[in-house]
Amino acid sequence: MTRNIVVTSALPYANGPIHLGHLVEYLQTDIWVRYQKLSGNRCLYFCADDTHGTPVMLRAQSEGIAPEKLIERVHAEHKKDFDDFGIEFDNYYSTHSPENQQMSSHIYQKLKDAGSITTRDVEQAYCENCKMFLPDRYVRGTCPKCKSPNQYGDSCDACGMTYQPTDLIEPKCSVCSQPPVRKKSIHYFFKLGDYADRLKKLIADGYTNESVGNKLDEWFNAGLKDWDISRDGPYFGFKIPGEENKYFYVWLDAPIGYIASCKNYCDNNGLDFDSVWNDKSWELYHFIGKDIMYFHALFWPAMLMGSGFKTANKLFVHGFLTVNGEKMSKSKGTFIKARSYLNHLDPEYLRYYYAAKLSSHVGDIDFNTDDFIARVNSELVGKLANLASRSAPMLTQKLDGKMGVLDAAGKALVDKLIAACQEIKDDYESLNYASVVRKITALADEANKYVDDVQPWKTVKTDMELTRTNITAILNSVKILATYLKPIIPMFVARIEKFMQTELFTFANVANVLELHTIGKFEHLIERIDKEKVQSMIEEIAQVQVPAQKQELAEPIAEECTIEDFMKVDLRVAKVIKAEAVEGADKLLSLELEIGPLQRHVFAGIKSAYKPEDLVGKLVICVANLKPRKMKFGLSEGMVCAAGPGGKDIFVLSPDEGAQSGQRVH
Ligand code: MSP
Ligand code: ZN
Repeated sequence: MTRNIVVTSALPYANGPIHLGHLVEYLQTDIWVRYQKLSGNRCLYFCADDTHGTPVMLRAQSEGIAPEKLIERVHAEHKKDFDDFGIEFDNYYSTHSPENQQMSSHIYQKLKDAGSITTRDVEQAYCENCKMFLPDRYVRGTCPKCKSPNQYGDSCDACGMTYQPTDLIEPKCSVCSQPPVRKKSIHYFFKLGDYADRLKKLIADGYTNESVGNKLDEWFNAGLKDWDISRDGPYFGFKIPGEENKYFYVWLDAPIGYIASCKNYCDNNGLDFDSVWNDKSWELYHFIGKDIMYFHALFWPAMLMGSGFKTANKLFVHGFLTVNGEKMSKSKGTFIKARSYLNHLDPEYLRYYYAAKLSSHVGDIDFNTDDFIARVNSELVGKLANLASRSAPMLTQKLDGKMGVLDAAGKALVDKLIAACQEIKDDYESLNYASVVRKITALADEANKYVDDVQPWKTVKTDMELTRTNITAILNSVKILATYLKPIIPMFVARIEKFMQTELFTFANVANVLELHTIGKFEHLIERIDKEKVQSMIEEIAQVQVPAQKQELAEPIAEECTIEDFMKVDLRVAKVIKAEAVEGADKLLSLELEIGPLQRHVFAGIKSAYKPEDLVGKLVICVANLKPRKMKFGLSEGMVCAAGPGGKDIFVLSPDEGAQSGQRVH
C-alpha cells in the first residue's frame, strides 16, 4: 500500500551558515525521504529558514542592511549548500512569509479562544541607550560567583552558575557597552501546564524515540510552566494582532513555519492543504536535534492540540556532532561550514560517513577525520566502487558490453543479495542507517570474494563466455548494492545507473535481474579521499574563523594581569640575522636573533606569511626572557611578537627604523 508522508527538518536559523553539525540532521532526513520515495511512497519534505528574532535583527543592523535583505541573502546561501549536498526538499521556504504570518495569527487566536493565553508583567534587562529589552545573551559581565569576566547574562561558562543578567558584576549591553537597567512590561504566555495530561499520553503512545523518555519525565516531574511567547519591539518578527509594540517570540512562529512551507507547496502544486497537513491519511514526521526537544515534544504538540491540528506520528531526535571528539568550536578551528567542506571534498563522502554512523539513538556522533578517510576509502571506494570497476570496463572493452545469463553460482550470489532487501528496508525505516551500511558492505565483501574466486582478469584470456557469465553476476550485484545505497549516495548511484543503461533503480525493481543486456561506457565512479584535501579544508577553516557576532572577539580576552605581571615580560628590539624553513614543520621558521650583543635562537609560526629571506635584516620585537622551551625541532629561546588572524595575515611587530637592537620596549 502506498503511504502518504509529510516530513520536516528543523528550520535553520538565518543568522549563520550551514555547518557540518546541521548536516547530521538534513542528511539523516534526506536519506529517509529518499528511501520512502524509492519505496514507492508519496513523501513530501518541507523545511524553511528560521528568520525572526534578535540575532537576525542585530546582525542586519551591524551590516547596515534591512533584515529582509539579510534573510534573503542567507536563504540563497543555505539553499545552495543543501543543493550541493544533494538534500532535496520539496519546498524550502521562509518563516518570514505571508502564509506563516496568517497561520501564526490563526493559531494564536485559536489558543486565545481556548483560554490558553494569559498575560503578566515581566521584569527584564533593558538598555536605555539602545532602547531595547536585552535577551540574556546580550548582557555581558563578570560572574557574581567565580568572578570570571565577560560572561553571558544567563549563566557562567567557567563555573556553571545560573543567574539573572542584572546579577552580573558590572553588566553591560553587548551592543553598546552601557549598563542595562531593569524594566517591566506586559508579556503574553501560553499555558503549557493545561496540556500536561494530553502531552503525557502523547508521549506514552510513542511520540518520541524511547531513549529520550527520561529527559521528558524529568520535565514533567519539574512541572510544565507557562511559556513567554511575546517580545517587545524593536524586534524582527510578526506583530501580535491587536497589539502595538509586541511581537511573537521567534519560537512561536518557527514551528508554524512547517505548516506554512507545506501550505505554500500545496497552493503551488494543486494539492489540498487541509488534507495534506491535517488528515490522518497523511503521516507526519519531524526530525530534530536533541537541543530543541523541549520545543518539539512539549510546546509544539500542545500548540497544535490547542488550535485544532493533529500532532505528528513521530518526533525523531538525533544527537550532536562532535569533531575529532570535541564540541565544534570556532576558536579551536573545528567549526566546519558546509561551504568549507564543499570547497575541498565530495559531498557524498560525508553522506556515506554520516550514514555509517547514524542510528535511531540520540547519542552524539563524531566526525573523526582519520576515521572518515579510512572508512570512505576502504568501504565506499575499496569495496563498493571497486566491484564495478573490476567488472564493467572489462565487459565493454573485451566483450562488447553484452551481459550473458547467470549460471548457478552467479544466481546464488544474486539471490543472496536480493534476499537482504527487506531487512535493509526495515533498517532504513527505523533510521538504523549504520546497520544498512554494515549489511551492504558485508554483501559487497561476498561479491568481491566471488570476483576473487572466478578471476575474470585471468579467464578473459582463455574463456570469453565464462567471463561474460561471471561478469553478469558481478554487475547484477553492483546493481542490487547500488539500489540499497541509493538513498545515501544518490549521485554515485546515478553514475552507475547511467552506464548500466537500464531503468532507474528502486526498491521495487531490485529483484529484476539483468541478463543479455548491453551496458554503456563505464565512467570513473569516485576518487579516494586525498588526505591533503582534508588538510587544506582544515587550513581554510583556520584562516577564515571569524567571530560569531561583531561584538565578540575571536579569542576572548585572557584573565586580568597586573602591571607588575606585565613588567615581568622583557620585550626587546631584535634584529633577524638568519632565517630559514624548518624541515618537516609546515608553519615554523627558524630565526637567529641579535639582541644587542646577545644572540638567541627562536622558532616562530609565521611561515605562511613570510619568506625567510625577506626577514633577514628586519627589526622585530621579541620576548627576551621567555623560559627556553624544547620543541620537536630544537630549543626555542624566546618568542617573536606577531598579530593577525593567521595564514597570510600574520604581521610581526616591527619597530621604527631608528630603533636599536637590544633596546627595551614598554
Ligand atoms: N531555528 C531553530 C529550529 C526551529 S524548528 C521550528 C534551530 N536552528 S539551528 O540552526 O540552531 O539548528 C537546526 C537543527 O540543526 C536543529 O535540529 C539542531 O539540533 C541541529 N543542529 C545544530 N547543530 C548541531 C550539531 N552540532 N550537531 C547535530 N545537530 C545540530 O535550532
Ligand atoms: Zn545598548
